[in-house]
Amino acid sequence: MNVSRAELLISCAKPDQFPDTGLPEIAFLGRSNVGKSSLLNALAHRKALARTSSTPGKTRLIHFFEVTRGKRDVVLVDLPGYGFAKVPERERRSWQKLVEAYLGNRPPLKAAVLLQDVRRDFSEDETLLLEWLAERGVASLVAFTKCDKLKPMRRKQRIQVLKQQVPRPPGGFVTTSADKKIGIDDLWRAVYVMITPPRDTAEEPTG
Ligand code: GTP
Ligand code: MG
Repeated sequence: MNVSRAELLISCAKPDQFPDTGLPEIAFLGRSNVGKSSLLNALAHRKALARTSSTPGKTRLIHFFEVTRGKRDVVLVDLPGYGFAKVPERERRSWQKLVEAYLGNRPPLKAAVLLQDVRRDFSEDETLLLEWLAERGVASLVAFTKCDKLKPMRRKQRIQVLKQQVPRPPGGFVTTSADKKIGIDDLWRAVYVMITPPRDTAEEPTG
């Protein structure tokens, strides 16, 4: 499906800068260098909307992108990654505060995509994040990233192993490669399911 529009709305260093668009937001979370900005670009069908880098710690602000795909308008939110030891402690704390401010109190946040490199095992960080999102009623899914780095057999094995390591998130698991554009439409579909409110069945006839 065509992405007719993809633009950076704002890059925020403080919560009072978060935009007020009235649109549903989908946040991209995960370890530094896992491929958040790259996957966001792949979803938006743009090469360099979000800045990517082989040096971990590229994303330091919260970037809000408005994306129109088909008839739907959403905001994709690129968050700084966690778990990168080389960033000075003070700076790390300030990102963490910013990310927590966003995740902790953000009514437009309808879904979170937690990214996990298919070659690595889940750590406690991911487990805790998934629990934390569930407690706050934010729907989540896990996207395995960089699947192009493994041959198909090995990839399949890794995915089986990874699926045993965390409870199944509400939005399920999607296998992706931003480089080879694998799983991009599947990810959009899974995101739409998460952000579509359940149909009110109260009016439906019974029996
Ligand atoms: P931070 O902003 O530091 O948190 O990183 P990030 O999670 O946004 O990662 P980013 O998208 O910048 O990608 C990190 C590195 O991984 C870059 O060198 C990307 O080119 C590479 N990368 C991202 N996605 C893929 C993928 O699907 N396949 C391969 N082979 N490399 C990828
Ligand atoms: Mg990034």
